[in-house]
Amino acid sequence: MDTASHPFRSVLYIPGSMDRALVKARSLPADAIIFDLEDAVAPEAKPAARATLAGALREGGFGKRYKIVRTNALTTEWGLEDVRMLREAGADAILLPKVNAPSDVDALADLIGPDLPIWVMMETPVSVFNARDIAAHGRVFGLVTGTNDLTKDLGARYRADRLPLMNALQRIVMAARAARIVAIDGVYNRFRDGEGLRVECAQGRDLGFDGKTLIHPSQIEITNTAFAPTDDEISLAERQIAAYDESMASGRGIAVVDGMIVEHLHVVAARRILAKARAVAEMMEE
Ligand code: COA
Ligand code: MG
Repeated sequence: MDTASHPFRSVLYIPGSMDRALVKARSLPADAIIFDLEDAVAPEAKPAARATLAGALREGGFGKRYKIVRTNALTTEWGLEDVRMLREAGADAILLPKVNAPSDVDALADLIGPDLPIWVMMETPVSVFNARDIAAHGRVFGLVTGTNDLTKDLGARYRADRLPLMNALQRIVMAARAARIVAIDGVYNRFRDGEGLRVECAQGRDLGFDGKTLIHPSQIEITNTAFAPTDDEISLAERQIAAYDESMASGRGIAVVDGMIVEHLHVVAARRILAKARAVAEMMEE
């Protein structure tokens, strides 16, 4: 699943137990939803949440939103039952928490058969060391950064500039890019602080993430804007492609646009921007 065919700008967590949120999600402009059975659901509420979520998935109505279910880890007492529910109720992908190594993915792949794409939480220090091998696993289609768990396990402090997480964030993006899969940034906890979110989205986009995980509907618009190609980027991409085509036609290999050289690699990047813009436009036609 690549972001040229489906955008993953806004990836909204919804606790599987939260009935009203499950209803509301069907009309929210999120590119993807993570239906959560793990951290967002209290232990005593897990079986009921599983049943509520199974009902919502069977009922459908989520349109083009990419449906991901986050199960509990297979080492917990709930994991196996979550996976069983998911196989029956249907979703586009399964998200496995607390992964440390590719062998954790193997264990899930053995259970679910050959078809369902697996996404992985990158939220333990060991997973970050193994990021490249996890991302290269043939069944893995996306990495989701778990910044809260990482911060906890590192004993780090929350900082607006996320300096303590920078090494991990960059490794996660690099691993995803090396394997040509999707990379999603972690959540922004102060969900009523739109300006703070905007700043953190810009940082995640600059780092190369495809989108950001969200915890509240009010975060969707800001995130969708931040991770979509801007009008300036689209215009530049179109002009770069046109100028390059023209220079090739006249026997030169390099063009110049806005005082910057345009080589073949810039044209590849420009085409990617236009493909992303098309995918975003298609997502918005319901
Ligand atoms: N997805 C979809 N809808 C959501 C939502 C979500 N994640 N969070 C809130 N909503 C809905 C509410 O149901 C409510 O809908 P209504 O107007 O139809 O009743 C509306 O948005 C406004 O909610 P609000 O009152 O502002 O939020 P809250 O104070 O009830 O809850 C949180 C705030 C953070 C507890 C809640 O948003 C939440 O549980 N988020 C998800 C957390 C999560 O999944 N964490 C795990 C990953 S880190
Ligand atoms: Mg977690």
